[in-house]
Amino acid sequence: MCGIIGYIGDRSVVPVLLYGLQRLEYRGYDSAGISVLDKDSGRIVVEKKVGKIKDLQEHLWDKKIKGCVGLGHSRWATHGEPTEVNAHPHTSHSGEFAVVHNGIIENFAKLKEELQAKGYQFKSDTDTEVIAHLFEDLYNGDILSTALEVAKRLEGAYAVGVISLKEPDKIIAIKKGSPIVIGLGKGENFLASDIPAVLEYTRDFIILDDGEVAVITKDSVDVYNLNGEKVEKKVLKVDWDTASAEKGGYKHFMQKEIHEQPKTIADTIAGFLSSIDEGLFETLKDTSRLYIIACGTSYHAGLVGKFWIEKFARIPVEVDYASEYRYRDRVIDDKTVVLGISQSGETADTRFALLDAKKEGAKTVALVNVVGSSLARESDYVLYTYCGPEIGVAATKTFTAQLTALLLLSLEAGLRKGSISPQFYQEAHKRLSDIPAKVEKILESEDFIKDLAYKYMNASDFLFLGRNLNYPIALEGALKLKEISYIHAEGYPAGEMKHGPIALIDEKLPVVCIAPRDRFYEKMVSNIQEVKARKGRIITVATDGDSDIKSLSEDTVYIPETEDYLYPILTAIPMQILSYHIASLLGKDVDQPRNLAKTVTVE
Ligand code: G6P
Repeated sequence: MCGIIGYIGDRSVVPVLLYGLQRLEYRGYDSAGISVLDKDSGRIVVEKKVGKIKDLQEHLWDKKIKGCVGLGHSRWATHGEPTEVNAHPHTSHSGEFAVVHNGIIENFAKLKEELQAKGYQFKSDTDTEVIAHLFEDLYNGDILSTALEVAKRLEGAYAVGVISLKEPDKIIAIKKGSPIVIGLGKGENFLASDIPAVLEYTRDFIILDDGEVAVITKDSVDVYNLNGEKVEKKVLKVDWDTASAEKGGYKHFMQKEIHEQPKTIADTIAGFLSSIDEGLFETLKDTSRLYIIACGTSYHAGLVGKFWIEKFARIPVEVDYASEYRYRDRVIDDKTVVLGISQSGETADTRFALLDAKKEGAKTVALVNVVGSSLARESDYVLYTYCGPEIGVAATKTFTAQLTALLLLSLEAGLRKGSISPQFYQEAHKRLSDIPAKVEKILESEDFIKDLAYKYMNASDFLFLGRNLNYPIALEGALKLKEISYIHAEGYPAGEMKHGPIALIDEKLPVVCIAPRDRFYEKMVSNIQEVKARKGRIITVATDGDSDIKSLSEDTVYIPETEDYLYPILTAIPMQILSYHIASLLGKDVDQPRNLAKTVTVE
């Protein structure tokens, strides 16, 4: 949540900050602001605006801010409404310190009271403002030691950027919980919540760890732990290209990312196979139980993963929402493995649940998309999806890549455990390698699915049904639609429909039935008959050539034939296209749906 950006160098800072904020807008978008060390006035100039980055950009149009050092912030409100006064950056009493912050300062009320007692006046309702006043209060002539003192006083999770008139040639970064990357340039350096924000300028990054403070000048980056000792940091080289952070002719990032899937699935297969860590599979060999924990779309990938891992690797799997798993009395022993799935690798619920399980003795594995993310660094083993940056808030390409990685994981573990034969393993790989072309084929139906979107877009509710491996896809279909079109939708296991949701069915309700020709086909057809008998509007997702199902349906979207266990990767695609076009036709803000943030770093 919230995106932060900082720059120090010789460029004019305002365009760099605005460019970075546009790249970070998906992290939060209810207000935005910048602070710049202004050369002409010798002051810190702060400009803020409620709304999107483009509103801030328009607001800055005729302001002549000259400076080469500054900070920017896009906000997703936690403490205090999304007003201008609550927007970041926040300044100290004298205006000599400006602060941007991502996270939550849990002890802010106590700190605020202390500072107020000393005469500090607060302008906003935010927790962040205490940091600005604390810097001023504790400043001792050296901004690094002041930052160390401030860090010791703060409780909670935070990524903080600070500039100051006292030491104008430095940006300070403090990290605990929320992410910060430092982009390294020549004669310039960058600070950001994540890599795509500054990918335009550099591929070399330092990733801060919890409990670290960085002093960034135009020519140097020095990192310290909270005891003030210097820490040697590795430089991470990132090979993502800038094109992946551009829309490339598509109307929305989501649409572009849907179309990238043949490549991202193929890249994930290749990436997975070239980085197999035998240590992980040794661990999985005698695992007593695997817990999968995740949130949102990643959770749905975990539900599919359970079917594959139990089927091919014969390991018992439980899947939980991370926010629930963290606070329940799970049973962990030294043979327990916990797999956290997260596109961003920064989701607080998933991270903290995984860290807790690790403390209790579980071995931990992360499946993430973002290289160098917190979850990746905190886990015993890391698996990646190879998607490049995903900008649309609603996950698409990372979902099918997560599915791909989970299937590969189950096959590798199954092969080593002897629960699948080498012949089956090879055959499965061959079938999987055909999937990108099959996804391409489904993408060719986009115009047809768009017509369906037009036909059904005014429905006020949708029901999504699937069985077995396609049940989580029904959940994901409903989630996608809810997230971006704000239409109420429910996903249900088709067999469970008769125990409740069937009461919802009438002649107005579109029911999306995922019914490929797999071993549950006949059962799915019976469920479709039940919907038909109650006059529901049936949209089926069916295997090419299935004319029987067409006669039962109002509309049918066809997908290519494949093995039963591979269908979820294919059936997910029409769900994404349908919800994308419904939302787009309804004029919704597809890439940045209301109230959501792509990376949720609060519990
Ligand atoms: C947010 C996003 C969802 C995403 C979920 C988990 O809620 O809006 O689209 O699925 O976080 O994110 P992660 O990065 O952990 O996969």
